[in-house]
Amino acid sequence: MELSIRENSTNFNIKNLISNKYNIIKVLQSTVQGEIYLVENKKSKKFYVIKTSFRILYENHISKSGHNVNEDIIKEYCILKHLTLLSHNKTDTEKVCSNDINGFVKFRSFLIGTSHFYLIVEYGGIDLFEYNVKQQKNLKLNQNLTHEWHFVVSYIVAQLIQTVCYFHQTCHLCHLDLSLENILINEHNLQIKICDFGLALFFDVKNGNNNCHQFKCKQFGGKTLYKSPEMTNQQPFDARAADIWSIGVIIFTLFCGAPPFEIANEKDLRYQHIMDDKLDDLLSIWKLDHAIPDDAKDLLRAIFKPEKQRITDEQMLSHPYVIKCNVLKHNMDCERLLEQKPENLSSPLPVSTSPLSISVTPSPISVTPSPISVLQSPMSTSPSPI
Ligand SMILES: Nc1ncnc2c1ncn2[C@@H]1O[C@H](COP(=O)(O)OP(=O)(O)OP(=O)(O)O)[C@@H](O)[C@H]1O
Ligand SMILES: [Mg+2]
Repeated sequence: MELSIRENSTNFNIKNLISNKYNIIKVLQSTVQGEIYLVENKKSKKFYVIKTSFRILYENHISKSGHNVNEDIIKEYCILKHLTLLSHNKTDTEKVCSNDINGFVKFRSFLIGTSHFYLIVEYGGIDLFEYNVKQQKNLKLNQNLTHEWHFVVSYIVAQLIQTVCYFHQTCHLCHLDLSLENILINEHNLQIKICDFGLALFFDVKNGNNNCHQFKCKQFGGKTLYKSPEMTNQQPFDARAADIWSIGVIIFTLFCGAPPFEIANEKDLRYQHIMDDKLDDLLSIWKLDHAIPDDAKDLLRAIFKPEKQRITDEQMLSHPYVIKCNVLKHNMDCERLLEQKPENLSSPLPVSTSPLSISVTPSPISVTPSPISVLQSPMSTSPSPI
């Protein structure tokens, strides 16, 4: 397969450079400013992803369809390079133990053609949106898998929270577009990797003083479903609190197979109910009483709060559910290390089996990247629950 980009002579050299080094396997996705390709390094046989972006669209801040967008591939390149370099500074022991430095896709290279930018990063697996759709189908077929699914979710949550808190606390970076689509998972070992830093922002935190003014933000882009109420209402907000809100939406969706609400404002009755502390009532109406364990529900209640009352990074790290997730993950990692199956720990190839015996069969239905169309909201599956 060829990079399906019409290039002039300068870019032709870049295309040659890429195709000399990589086999192009397939287009993973069309994005607002280009394409995402899965490629294989001819020598190492390792998989990478090339994100291309039309320079003309980048320069005019517009999408292929002419809409204004905030995505910024150069910023994404700088952020990923910075994070990757930081992770190289860790000692070998730290590298093995820490989720934080393993929890994002590593930068490989950035090429500038005359018409396109090419960002090359490691391949992280399938995205959590697609993974969740597959797992929810299996759960519907076999309720006995619920316990194992809760374990898988714990394993994901431990990594997600540690990585995002590392971004906030050590790197002073907020992602600002956390979603199931922007988190990748290696189905072999359940290692997650956050991708898509096109909206992420570094904050200039002085004197190590992490007060909320230092993380004040006025960038309101991102996916409606995952946006906090203050972002939705376009009020200046604390970027860390906005990431934490998105984590809440992600955790809810993993447990329930559908997002909690479509938009975080009063027009959405589901949102109102959750903010009125009636999460249990809502789950009961949706017949999902046992979908979320009690300690995870407690964390969600602390997340789905107005910004000033929302749980902080520090509080989240010491929340009983998060501690439980970390312990489960640690035990599982130790067991794996003892089993010594290094090939399973490193290869993020697309696979069809999960180590936790939840059989992951390829979905017969084509999965589109819109959560609402595939992961139907529980509201729409039960007539007027409120
Ligand atoms: N490193 C990667 N490994 C595996 N899959 C990836 C990787 N990067 C991106 N993808 C896949 O491509 C999709 C889109 O990538 P990304 O999120 O970086 O683009 P995007 O900026 O969201 O594009 P747009 O906003 O235009 O849709 C991801 O949701 C994921 O499915
Ligand atoms: Mg994305």
